[in-house]
Amino acid sequence: MRLEGKSVLLGVTGGIAAYKAPEIVRSLRQRGARVRVVLTQSALEFVTPLSLQTVSGEKVSTSLFDLGQESEIGHIQLADGADVVLIAPATANVIGKCAAGLADDLLTTILLATRAPVVVAPAMNVHMYENSLVQENLSRLAGRGWRIVEPDVGSLACGYEGLGRLPDPNVLLEEVSAALAPDDFARETVLITAGPTREPIDPVRFVSNRSSGKMGFALARAAARRGARVVLVTGPTSLADPRHVRTVRVETAEEMARVVRGEARAATVVIAAAAVADFRPSRPAKEKAPKKKGRSTLELEATPDVIATAVPRGPGRVVVGFAAETTDLIERARGKLERKALDLIVANDVTAAGAGFDVETNLVTLIDRAGTEALPLQGKDEVADAILDRVARLRTSRQRGQAPSTRPRVSRSAGRAGRRVQGRLQRR
Ligand code: PMT
Repeated sequence: MRLEGKSVLLGVTGGIAAYKAPEIVRSLRQRGARVRVVLTQSALEFVTPLSLQTVSGEKVSTSLFDLGQESEIGHIQLADGADVVLIAPATANVIGKCAAGLADDLLTTILLATRAPVVVAPAMNVHMYENSLVQENLSRLAGRGWRIVEPDVGSLACGYEGLGRLPDPNVLLEEVSAALAPDDFARETVLITAGPTREPIDPVRFVSNRSSGKMGFALARAAARRGARVVLVTGPTSLADPRHVRTVRVETAEEMARVVRGEARAATVVIAAAAVADFRPSRPAKEKAPKKKGRSTLELEATPDVIATAVPRGPGRVVVGFAAETTDLIERARGKLERKALDLIVANDVTAAGAGFDVETNLVTLIDRAGTEALPLQGKDEVADAILDRVARLRTSRQRGQAPSTRPRVSRSAGRAGRRVQGRLQRR
């Protein structure tokens, strides 16, 4: 998700992972955010204001009683100016102070004064993290709507192996994006298919296609950000399971159909981004087929159509398909919309530059019975949000018994402190 126009206040506290702060700032800025940094006195032992000022392009604040800033009541300006506050790394000490409502330095004062959503990324020794006092303090903050990012497991600076590492900046970015996103899917259970399928020829060979899973995974992340319970059924990909998403990995079209059939009843939205093989070898060999001279013929049969046969239709469920086409895009996509009894189809010209298989961007046209909406070439994360915006409009107009509008949503609500807590303390 892009963060243009968003102001992130990064609070860095005194743990060894503070050395990662410049990397976090860079990642946030690469997504378009303005980043202002507040360092605690202990953080100054690990990272310098100069390095953070250089990467953020902003003055770094370290003291509550900085005369230059306090003449303008600096801590209130920082608290009010933030769209979201990220504390990374967050030490047990700062977590404890926040849970107790203490405000004895610049960062804790801002945290009491801000009305922006707060994301906390604890990083510390595994035994400190698991200490019941720290866990109780985190639960208290979670209960107040603060978003707790569970640390990673790995080797820790203290020599221990375990839970306590600060997650990768991309994970923190995803949590910041989620804190800023609307929660308009909080009542939805979204089932998404992604990736290719592999249809075996023999134990070592298969028929497949070029799908990387990126489009479907972007949809899963976007739906989770917007508050949905998400189930992702994916064919083989090299992508890691998205956080806050239940991911089920399958191999063949048959397996995908079976899993989707089982999950679809609970789903209120189903989005089929998977490039399911349309054909499979009709008699896969049990042993590796030996090489033959001359021509060979592989007999194929049709696979089950997952979206057409495994998902029951009804007023309580919006069903979205994709159409990957190389010619007659709109006409063919419209045909699939009708034949597969879909509510919406995402027409994807997979021959266009920067679109389709295994790239970071996509170029699609959304088609439903109310009309078409051609979207510009943009990141798959942005395409995913646009598809969800359209699904949300379909849902609203269905509830009101109207024809759906094709007008794009103009603004999204931001800042939703108190909305949702994830991570170890509350998992779906
Ligand atoms: O994964 P990426 O590398 O990011 O690439 C993204 C993508 C190009 C795969 C994606 O944007 C896309 O277009 N997905 C649909 C690919 C496809 O198989 O389209 P289709 O026109 O053949 O199928 C139409 C619809 O029926 C699709 O929703 C498909 O998931 C579904 N289908 C097709 C065959 C089948 N046996 N079962 C199905 O459910």
